[in-house]
Amino acid sequence: MSTANLPTDFSRLPDLPKGVYTAPLKRPARVGEDWLEPAQRRYASEEHAIWDELYARQMEVLPGRACSAFLRGLERLDLSRGGVPDFGRLSEELGALTGWSVVPVPMLIPDHVFFWHLANRRFPAGNFIRTREAFDYIQEPDVFHDVFGHVPMLTDPTYADYMQEYGRAGWKAMRHNRLKSLGALYWYTVEFGLVMEDGMPKVYGAGILSGPAEAVFALEGQSPNRIMLNVDRVMRTDYVIDDLQPTYFVIESFADLYHQTVERDFDRLYRGLGAGFTYANTAVIDVDDVLHRGTLEYHLRGGRGSGATPV
Ligand SMILES: [Fe+2]
Repeated sequence: MSTANLPTDFSRLPDLPKGVYTAPLKRPARVGEDWLEPAQRRYASEEHAIWDELYARQMEVLPGRACSAFLRGLERLDLSRGGVPDFGRLSEELGALTGWSVVPVPMLIPDHVFFWHLANRRFPAGNFIRTREAFDYIQEPDVFHDVFGHVPMLTDPTYADYMQEYGRAGWKAMRHNRLKSLGALYWYTVEFGLVMEDGMPKVYGAGILSGPAEAVFALEGQSPNRIMLNVDRVMRTDYVIDDLQPTYFVIESFADLYHQTVERDFDRLYRGLGAGFTYANTAVIDVDDVLHRGTLEYHLRGGRGSGATPV
């Protein structure tokens, strides 16, 4: 993600390049251009209880499946102390480790603002927490997904650098009109990525870490493909946002992820990419280094909508 032709000053929100449009999200009157809430929400005791239950449920499946950086991050930030964490305290502890902070936002925020916060080592986290009715599955990331799923990983120095560079790369992708491709990279790494540890894939993607069934499916399921990450291939690959993934991509290490992305020229890559995706999310192609070729049984049976068992 070479940084030539990028805005050099990220201290304030740079102007959007001409001709670049981002999703028309309606900004609540109380937030400014940075989309930051004036303060973190004050959660009711029922909301703290929801956090505790979600936390306990995830910890039944994650030991032995989550990567060691994540489990170490949970401990270092003491996220098990109970209740929704206070962003101020979290930011102090995280700041001392890797210079990141956690800031409250009302909802999904526009891409260019999200990238800008990442470029400044600020992680925007949803302020609200899901209700009991939406316990298993939510459309918009809430504080549990964002803080439990993403923040522990930011205690790893290499991963923390990758996330900052990703934010800077976002500004470059906007100039090349390749946000969709960069979005696929985010999806298959930050949200649904697996990393090799002691010869076995483990989970580092926040979408898997914060969900009830996906860690087991992603690592032990026969249905999904598990393929070693190749950036050129992944940025050409479509993805589903409302079901378990048919394919997971695996990195050797966070240093491998950093080398494959930050230390290469994305200008050339973008020039070679078409505007749409080349590969379906179920595809296994010639260049793939395949760890497990999936049966795709879960998706062939119709996936979430059909009530198919994730196997
Ligand atoms: Fe996320």
